[in-house]
Amino acid sequence: MCGIVGYVGSKSADNILLNGLKRLEYRGYDSAGMAIVEDGHISTRRAKGRVTELEQILAEQPLKSTMGIAHTRWATHGKPSVKNAHPHVDASGRLALVHNGIIENHRSIRSLLEGKGIAFQSDTDTESLVQLIGYFYKESGDLTGSLQRALRDVQGTFGIALICADQPGRIIGARRGSPLIVGVGDGEFVIASDGSAIVEHTSQVIFLKDNEMVELSDGRYEISTMDAEPIQAQVDTLELTLEEIEIGSHEHYMHKEIFEQPQSLANCLAGRLDLQAGEVVLGGLSEVQREIANCKRVLLFACGTAWHAGLVGEYLFEELSFTPAEVEYSSELRYRNPIIEEGTIGIVLSQSGETADSLAALREIKRKGATVFGIVNVVGSSIARETDAGVYLHVGPEIGVASTKAFTAQVAVLTMMAIDMGRRRYLSHARAEELLKELHQIPGKVEKVLALEDQIRKITAKYVDRNNWLYLGRGVNYPVALEGALKLKEISYIHAEGMPAAEMKHGPIALIDEDMPVVVVAPKDHTYDKVLSNIEEVHTRQGRIIAIATEGDTRLSELAEEVIYVPQTSPLLSPLVTTIPLQLMAYHAALMRGQNVDKPRNLAKSVTVE
Ligand code: F6R
Repeated sequence: MCGIVGYVGSKSADNILLNGLKRLEYRGYDSAGMAIVEDGHISTRRAKGRVTELEQILAEQPLKSTMGIAHTRWATHGKPSVKNAHPHVDASGRLALVHNGIIENHRSIRSLLEGKGIAFQSDTDTESLVQLIGYFYKESGDLTGSLQRALRDVQGTFGIALICADQPGRIIGARRGSPLIVGVGDGEFVIASDGSAIVEHTSQVIFLKDNEMVELSDGRYEISTMDAEPIQAQVDTLELTLEEIEIGSHEHYMHKEIFEQPQSLANCLAGRLDLQAGEVVLGGLSEVQREIANCKRVLLFACGTAWHAGLVGEYLFEELSFTPAEVEYSSELRYRNPIIEEGTIGIVLSQSGETADSLAALREIKRKGATVFGIVNVVGSSIARETDAGVYLHVGPEIGVASTKAFTAQVAVLTMMAIDMGRRRYLSHARAEELLKELHQIPGKVEKVLALEDQIRKITAKYVDRNNWLYLGRGVNYPVALEGALKLKEISYIHAEGMPAAEMKHGPIALIDEDMPVVVVAPKDHTYDKVLSNIEEVHTRQGRIIAIATEGDTRLSELAEEVIYVPQTSPLLSPLVTTIPLQLMAYHAALMRGQNVDKPRNLAKSVTVE
């Protein structure tokens, strides 16, 4: 949700910033811009659309400096346009700012400043902040003090980088609610929303915490609170390699990430399955054994795809841990009054670890006294840091906007957590051992499903012109149906709905006719016969059935137009294999419809606004 990057050092800043923006573009791609200080004044270049548009402008009108800031935008306030593109400059033209987040009280700041004769140039919330800093700076001439004063007055969230024409060679950053990382190089610094814009320059980083600011100049950094209290910052090593964020031989990141799943799942499981002992080893939970033993209720919360994984978790905890479990949308949880009794464990799932709704729900649940575990991919992210304990996915960076490998790893981690909790209750050694052995074989089974890409592409081609699709599943495969529908709609813009197979007859069946593809996730499990009846109902109404079935199934081919066979596994683990064909179908449908698979319209990878 907007990416910011800044550089100060001795090298030419333009390419460093441009490459940084390309790495961050998954966070938003409505407009892009760059600002530097040259010859005692601020120069900016801004473009509507992708970073490549900005690159073209820079090729014609270069910006040459050894420092600068840049931004790629996911529009919230003010439609995508050049005037709304960052960096925003204050009325004096001496300050430029890039911002990720939302200034909630921007209207009142704007009307106050307009009342004092300051003319605004854009429709953005961000401009109110730079104008306010500029207003204080004009009075005092103290840049840091003006920024601190302005940040005290603004409500909302921000990760910002500020430059000033009077102080070339200096960047000030600050954060509250939006991520900001400082890469510490040899006499140079890269400040950015995430490590992908930093990793090719240095692996030494400082993760700024909420309400901290950083001043970068003369090869030195100084971290302080927003009340000017100095802070001794810890320099960490970035757990990210350049190779992980390169696209390699794939045409799209989504394709790369779908195909990484045998390996990403193997990495996620590595060292965590003790097959002999029938036990799970989750280092991140070693300090919270007592809480796990005393857990009476599990409250999962997340957004989007991570919520779908959480819904699988609901089944897993009830089935394997004999513990009441429910999943809630983060955005709803914080506006309800959830009753947190003693023994409630919250589990927040988030690939990015920065989703604003999940972060806010986490804080709310903690305030009410729950212990909260995180299932997070991005190491050192806000959610990872604010949870009491947690388990990382270890699947490497997920760059395609549509989540794929994070989903399967989230389900794998939930399975391990549920088994771990179950073993302290009634889950037998034999059952745990059997499940862990199955889990261990999942990467190989995913590999087998990926080998069906050609068949899946051909099936997709037959139905890609249909504008309404239905996805059905039961039990643990109901969330898979939801996830399949979400994948299709978010990247191909085909309308799709997922639902429990039995719910179809309570209304949606009215939609079914010979034009409607109905994807039914129907592996062999205890719901199979019932799903078969639902398939009959679709068949009778001439819906076009695409079934995901277990290898060796002979009945489905009589009813379904298409059958995609996936390897047999334990029914509770089946989402790990049944999801894969749906990811591939969505990917190919989007390609066939000529859509930008990795950067679907209106979306951003990390939703850091509420
Ligand atoms: C869909 C997708 C989103 C995210 C959601 C939560 O493909 O990626 O629905 O799952 O925005 O994001 P995280 O997991 O980063 O909290």
